[in-house]
Amino acid sequence: MSKAVRGTLAAAILVVLAGVWWYAQPDWNNEGWTDSEINLIRSLWIANLPPLPTGTGNAVADDRQAAEFGHRLFFDKRLSANGQISCASCHRPEHFFTDGLEVAEGLGTGKRNTMSVVGAVYSPWLFWDGRKDSLWSQALSPLENPLEHGGSRMQLVHAIAQDKHYRAQYEELFGPLDDFSDPSRFPPAAGPVVNKNLNENWESMSPSDQEAVTRVFVNIGKAIAAYQRLLLPGAARFDRYVEALVVGNREPAVTLSKDERAGLKLFIGKAQCINCHNGPLLTNHEFHNTALLSSPGSLPSKGRINAVQAVLGDPFNCRGDFSDILPRECTELRFIRTGDNLVGAHKTPSLRNIAETAPYMHAGQLATLREVIDHYDRAPAAMVGHNEAKVLSLRRKEAKQLEAFLHTLSGPVAADSKWLNPPDFAGY
Ligand code: HEC
Ligand code: HEC
Repeated sequence: MSKAVRGTLAAAILVVLAGVWWYAQPDWNNEGWTDSEINLIRSLWIANLPPLPTGTGNAVADDRQAAEFGHRLFFDKRLSANGQISCASCHRPEHFFTDGLEVAEGLGTGKRNTMSVVGAVYSPWLFWDGRKDSLWSQALSPLENPLEHGGSRMQLVHAIAQDKHYRAQYEELFGPLDDFSDPSRFPPAAGPVVNKNLNENWESMSPSDQEAVTRVFVNIGKAIAAYQRLLLPGAARFDRYVEALVVGNREPAVTLSKDERAGLKLFIGKAQCINCHNGPLLTNHEFHNTALLSSPGSLPSKGRINAVQAVLGDPFNCRGDFSDILPRECTELRFIRTGDNLVGAHKTPSLRNIAETAPYMHAGQLATLREVIDHYDRAPAAMVGHNEAKVLSLRRKEAKQLEAFLHTLSGPVAADSKWLNPPDFAGY
């Protein structure tokens, strides 16, 4: 063989070897995912979060001063009946705005697990059963709930009117406050609440005085909502992986482990989680029955079925007198879903930061992610209504992989640190 032929042959062999090597390398641009899997994975990417929803009936929703005011109200314990509870007592920033408890503890012990408020702005329905249709309307509930803040709207209005800083902030946003100083018209505490005395005080007031008080109360809710609109989830390790996958950025530091990727594959495939936990917040914002046991000593929660009437009849809903948009603009209420399959159905929660917010489910029934996965795996019969989730028959290893994937969804809250800390109350 001539030298030239030998050289050519050697070069050809090298090319073939390089080709084999190249072929054997996992292609980082798709990591073995099929096109349809990549589309599903991409749909969960946080970069797909749409602009913040409008049309919630809150004219100050995106007003910076309203957010400042709301930030203070969110952390202010003086707004509770005993001076010890604020929204942040249960929605603790360091716990991704949850409390780590099975069920909430305010003035009393509640029946429901504290939900995160991060990303709640995207939810058309608030609470586990969706009995509220906006953040501002939702915020009014805990303030008068005897187990949470335990206050009354009249007491809150006095608190705003008598604090010179709050009064100034309020008036700048909503115009001059009425004069609430006459005790014969405006008792120290009153509201349409469970407490008999406070309720009697409320009934003794004239309808127009009641309305003036309620209007200030509603504006408090609107300011708190403006603050909560700023609390959004930030990119997690999972999102950096998706970015690398779809943008083709070959950066090893953002890869997921083999188990995490296997868990992701299960999540979007065999385990069917993506049927309900989809989109960039990993929720379809819908209501489903997943056959949770009731908490000990309680009847099973009927969930969404009862909440539909509650939200339609709520004076603080989008169509009500206190909403800042026209009733015909309230599309969510117009197209509200009803029907028997809502018995025992609860809102699909976002899975962003899920590893940080144990315990889980509407009454904190499941302590760990492992218990959650085992629950879906078995898909028990529901105590009320029908379980929509199917038996999965996962192998032990698969359950672990799914759990490993859920841990990749943790990331920081994408808000200025100012909003994640108590405001400076000096001088208040
Ligand atoms: C005593 C603890 C506690 C306090 C105080 C409290 N919350 Fe909550 N929060 C909860 C619980 C529990 C739920 C779920 C209740 C349910 O579904 O019935 C919840 C639900 C919510 C939700 C619904 C989230 C979603 O995705 O549907 C928002 C928003 C919220 N709270 C904001 C607030 C605000 C604003 C305040 C203060 C005005 C506040 N909370 C005070 C415990 C508390
Ligand atoms: C049929 C719709 C549906 C499917 C399928 C589904 N989920 Fe859920 N998920 C829900 C609903 C609804 C809840 C709240 C249930 C409740 O509290 O009553 C929930 C709650 C959860 C929670 C607790 C969230 C919290 O904040 O407490 C986790 C974790 C979870 N799901 C993970 C998964 C995983 C993993 C899969 C796949 C194995 C899955 N889900 C499949 C609808 C679904």
